[in-house]
Amino acid sequence: HTYVIIMAGGVGTRFWPFSRSTYPKQFHDVLGTGRTLLQQTADRFDGICPPENIYIVTSDKYKDLCQQQLPQLSDDQILCEPVARNTAPCIAYACYKIAERDPQANIVVAPADHIILKQDEFQRTIRTALAATKDNDVLVTLGIQPSRPDTGYGYIQYIADDESGSEVKKVKTFTEKPHLELAKQFVESGEFVWNAGIFVWNVQSICKAFNEYLPEVAEIFTEGKSIYYTGDEQAFVDKAYSLCKSISIDNGVMEKADNVYVVLSDFGWSDLGTWKSLYEVSDKSDELNVIDGHIMLYDTRNCIIKTPKDRLVVVNGLDGYIVAEYDNVLMICRKEEEQKVKEFVADAKERG
Ligand code: GDD
Ligand code: MG
Repeated sequence: HTYVIIMAGGVGTRFWPFSRSTYPKQFHDVLGTGRTLLQQTADRFDGICPPENIYIVTSDKYKDLCQQQLPQLSDDQILCEPVARNTAPCIAYACYKIAERDPQANIVVAPADHIILKQDEFQRTIRTALAATKDNDVLVTLGIQPSRPDTGYGYIQYIADDESGSEVKKVKTFTEKPHLELAKQFVESGEFVWNAGIFVWNVQSICKAFNEYLPEVAEIFTEGKSIYYTGDEQAFVDKAYSLCKSISIDNGVMEKADNVYVVLSDFGWSDLGTWKSLYEVSDKSDELNVIDGHIMLYDTRNCIIKTPKDRLVVVNGLDGYIVAEYDNVLMICRKEEEQKVKEFVADAKERG
């Protein structure tokens, strides 16, 4: 009874211009492996769950991209959202739909835009989590040892004193995206792990949690009971989303619930959120450059340069920059100031 829900509706703004609203990063072969991030995400569950139990939740704009990239899935496994309402409605829609098909479903929810280097260890961890949720009313998340006080993640404080030696720990607190001072305290205390954004639960437990912590969202998607799997589903969903508020599963459920557990994990995880995160996971030259494209470099170091292969790019005397060209946009930005990318995107939009 294992199911996988892949969340693939994000736009990936901080990865501009490579990630665009017309073609977000999850649909790119970011690492040059021959498989896109979405395809890699689906591949990761080979052997854990049969292909017919995988659901993708995405914007209706990306339905064709999903079908092209995952031809093994049938149309009705791609759930289309008319508008993005963040991850709680996305998860609620898929879970309430699965509940109608299989009340005993045990579900993994995974983002479509992460890198996981150790596949075997990932599968082992997922199986541990699935075993923990199968017959128990618990919400399980995977926790990663933090390496810096990053404010882009959720922080999980767990109860360490466990004689059982189990990797599954009871969660004491869950804090989504704390401010920097708090993140620093969390990391220094050594009691916290990052939320990897991968969740495991049985369908009864997550529906119960929605009922309790996001009753208005629960109500909207419970209404669909008799409509899921019929020709009226899309019309129902379009209306449901127009009524639904925008909220993340982290703020809406995980911070509030008291039956949260974390599996301490170490499978070479990285959230490819930003240019720097891509720089960190990529192979580097002696001068610490990461390059992808047709590039001639002179006296250049600490750079990440990603440009189309059909034109020659010559770089001289650059240190610590991102040079990224995609489609009709070229961006050159100091690596340390990559948080400005969001600003660039907003300004570029204004210019049209
Ligand atoms: N279908 C759909 N609809 N997918 C969405 C939507 C939506 O409205 N919004 C986001 N997603 C997808 C994104 O594409 C991504 O794969 C995943 O859901 C998570 O969303 P992000 O927007 O990337 O979340 P985040 O990175 O800021 O934070 C989450 O992940 C962190 C780890 O990467 C949280 O769970 C944090 O607690 C966590 O640390
Ligand atoms: Mg993310």
